[in-house]
Amino acid sequence: MSTQAKPSNPLKAVRGTRDLLPPETALWNRVESVARNVFSRYGFGEIRTPIFEDTQLFARGVGEETDIVSKEMYTWSDGERFDKEALLDWWVRNHPLKPIGYGREDAPFDLSLDPPDGPRQLVAFASHLTSQMMASYAAINAPTFPRREDLDEYLDKGDSTDLGEVLDRGRYVKAIKRLVIASPVPAKPEEWVDDGFVIEYVFGNFNKSSQSLTLRPENTAGVVRAYIEHKLDARGDLQKLFYIGPQFRRERPQRGRYRQFWQIGVEVLGPVSSGSESPLRDAEVLEMLATLLDELGVRGWRLELNSVGSSDDRKRYNVALCEALAPVKDRLCEDNQRRAETNPLRVLDSKEPNDQDIINALPKIADFLDADSTAHFQAVLAALDACGVPYTVNPRLVRGLDYYTRTTFEFTVPDGSGLGTQNALLGGGRYDGLSEMLGGPKAPGIGFAIGEDRLILTLQAQAEANKPGAPHLDSEMWVPKLDAYIAPMGVERNPAALALARELRRAGLSVEVGDGTFRLKKSFEAADKSARHIVILGEDELASNTATVKTFATGEQVRVERSELAKLLRSESTPD
Ligand code: HAM
Repeated sequence: MSTQAKPSNPLKAVRGTRDLLPPETALWNRVESVARNVFSRYGFGEIRTPIFEDTQLFARGVGEETDIVSKEMYTWSDGERFDKEALLDWWVRNHPLKPIGYGREDAPFDLSLDPPDGPRQLVAFASHLTSQMMASYAAINAPTFPRREDLDEYLDKGDSTDLGEVLDRGRYVKAIKRLVIASPVPAKPEEWVDDGFVIEYVFGNFNKSSQSLTLRPENTAGVVRAYIEHKLDARGDLQKLFYIGPQFRRERPQRGRYRQFWQIGVEVLGPVSSGSESPLRDAEVLEMLATLLDELGVRGWRLELNSVGSSDDRKRYNVALCEALAPVKDRLCEDNQRRAETNPLRVLDSKEPNDQDIINALPKIADFLDADSTAHFQAVLAALDACGVPYTVNPRLVRGLDYYTRTTFEFTVPDGSGLGTQNALLGGGRYDGLSEMLGGPKAPGIGFAIGEDRLILTLQAQAEANKPGAPHLDSEMWVPKLDAYIAPMGVERNPAALALARELRRAGLSVEVGDGTFRLKKSFEAADKSARHIVILGEDELASNTATVKTFATGEQVRVERSELAKLLRSESTPD
């Protein structure tokens, strides 16, 4: 028997993440299937992009100064198992060395060693390396070693060219230069070779594979990256894409705000010739959202929209905003003071109550739009009017991501819809310059992302608040009852019960099997909870090739032939 003590604190899901369990997952699936249905009626196709991407994608796409990129991303350096810079620092601080001469023809470096099998070996190598260095450097009493600033200069001078020539196999050169600088005067030449070999080996691997990666905090940048990478512009038509998947932001968790959350989003983009710049696209996306929310049964949603203009409009507006903020900045809260410095547009969507008077008096972006942006916005509004989609223009709506141009929008739900202070159900807008920002062709686009967690919370809260009138949350609709629960009478009947379940399931019915040890009362209770019918399988039934079926809705109990069973269960299993 194991004597291991049971850990006193069982592991839990990480803060800001959560498990979604049945029956709630049925609601998630239902929401997703309604969304898929609506998207297909509007001609959208699904795109699935990786959950992590190169960090640069978000830095360039979403913007370095945004909250998301500056403080909320989960970023790591892939391939680096220990901190190379820290190690180098450690050398410099602890081992004042003098650079030695290189280019020794007699140093038989072997670069053909196979890379390590995996991280474990690499870590082992790294620690071996560290201890080797500590041992050998401790023996050296050289008076100086270049400090950090000297180091780069030294590298620039290319003093290690000779060695580079001897050792250059292309990809390792930079690592080798570093190695050489840090190499000790060998106590014995073999050691030098040995140390050098190991150092080169480890650094070579780092240099080769180290890349900064980030868990996607949103999906628009990834979709545009994929659009560019797969040359979707060459298809010539409008790309109408949707996605459903998890996103990651290191925000302070609270109701409706998680560190892993789900988005249901769409992006419409393409070359200008495909009509991607047309205000009709904006209005169509908004009208589709209104349809989707209505079909899901979300009540009281409110569409707020604004135009943030072209990037030139925004530049002019930013200047005006900075000027207006300068004399009042000191009276703003600390957060807004910082925003006023780094990203003044963000001050506009601050909810800080004490700052509202100042913010309301700031210049409005509408006054800085050029004629084209104004006409574009008016055309979006006209198309919404024509469809009868209600909206409110909110001149302060600027959104927190840098890629937006022209139309921006959010849908909110009334207080008391389960979201606490997070009342934005979804957000989106146009991003006409994003593709170019990521090195792609001109590809104006517009899209949105619904916070699926928030949508679910809203549906649950609204159903709760409004019980009988909430058919969309009726539990039978989200978690349909099984067609049958099979109750074997006695353990001897278990194999036959499983065989019957197999037969019925293969015939397309949903079936649960009890256990022969259950008393009849327990079987009935379990069946009543989960299924429309209970199928009793006792000795008599098996002997006569029949089954006893009770239909809970009517209370009727009948004995039927096995050959008629599936038909009976099915005929009453389709809800009207
Ligand atoms: P976003 O406003 O950052 O926009 O996020 C969209 C929605 O995701 C929010 O309205 C909210 O419902 C949900 N959301 C955001 N953060 C969290 C969180 N920590 N926990 C729960 N839900 C959250 C975007 O992400 C853009 N990519 C939308 C877009 C698509 N714009 C153009 N195309």
